Amino acid sequence: MDKIRIGFIGAGQVGVTLGAYFAGKGLNISGYFSRSFNSAQAAAKIVSTQAFADLAPFVEECEMIFITTADEQIKTVWQELKKYDLNNKIICHTSGALAADVFEGIAACGAYGCSIHPMYAFAQKNGQTQGLESCFFALEGNGEYLAEIISFIKKLGNKYLLIAQDKKALYHLANVFVANFVLAVLNSGFNCLQSCGVSQKETIQALMPLIAANLDNIAQKGCLESLTGPVERNDLATVKKHLEVIPPQYSGLYAQLSIILADLAQQKHPARDYGALVNALSDYMNKCQ
Ligand SMILES: NC(=O)c1ccc[n+]([C@@H]2O[C@H](COP(=O)([O-])OP(=O)(O)OC[C@H]3O[C@@H](n4cnc5c(N)ncnc54)[C@H](OP(=O)(O)O)[C@@H]3O)[C@@H](O)[C@H]2O)c1
Repeated sequence: MDKIRIGFIGAGQVGVTLGAYFAGKGLNISGYFSRSFNSAQAAAKIVSTQAFADLAPFVEECEMIFITTADEQIKTVWQELKKYDLNNKIICHTSGALAADVFEGIAACGAYGCSIHPMYAFAQKNGQTQGLESCFFALEGNGEYLAEIISFIKKLGNKYLLIAQDKKALYHLANVFVANFVLAVLNSGFNCLQSCGVSQKETIQALMPLIAANLDNIAQKGCLESLTGPVERNDLATVKKHLEVIPPQYSGLYAQLSIILADLAQQKHPARDYGALVNALSDYMNKCQ
């Protein structure tokens, strides 16, 4: 696998960043093919490789092809790709939600399909790979070749998870909760503080230490031991105060999240009775609907 020739279809955030990361690890990057040749050229420049204007020479040049287009394009790209000789090639995509079965008919092509999902947030395509060293890769796909893929990831120095095909959607949901939903929750908090007259810049500066300490605690002790706040303290009076001032767009979210926190708090303090708090929140949620 060290010398395997790797190519990317889709010169976006993931394609460029993974290409730069692999190249930095001494792997052989054959080049980029993308919807627009400009994107392929820009990526090739960053990764010091070639841009392909046509699929045929690209396929010929690559032994392992990463399809790093948006999820909804993967099937279309595969339908195009399977028109070429793919014998003994590895075809991967980096979608978190889709499995390798998106490569319909791949066995008949003599190729091996897998999904290799980097558990990371890619928000740029400038070749910066900082932070990727600690990223896990979630692997799923052709059993025969999975051992090769595992050794590929290990050689990069990264860790991996094996995810069953029928668990991919649930696996992806986990990522969405901790990345996307957390962002929505943080933004809700930012908006509340800004409504107190604090500037956008100061809001982020003031709340970051709280966010960072919370994440540190979770990394070290897990969620249960990191739990703090009025729900954990079973402080119904403070919860009621919040419900009096909460902007209406956050009221359902507040009640639902608080009920989940109460469940955690109950696990942490089995001797406490959170029943009254949960009932008040459930009544409030019913009134909101
Ligand atoms: N972003 C993340 O944080 C993240 C994390 C893990 C996994 N993923 C997964 O990684 C994949 C790529 O995500 P991304 O964020 O890198 O997307 P992206 O930045 O939108 O890049 C996708 C690229 O695919 C190209 N493309 C679209 N349709 C194409 C087609 N039919 N043929 C060839 N190229 C095509 C586009 O190229 P042009 O510029 O040429 O139009 C675009 O640059 C997705 O499956 C996503 O779920 C994303």
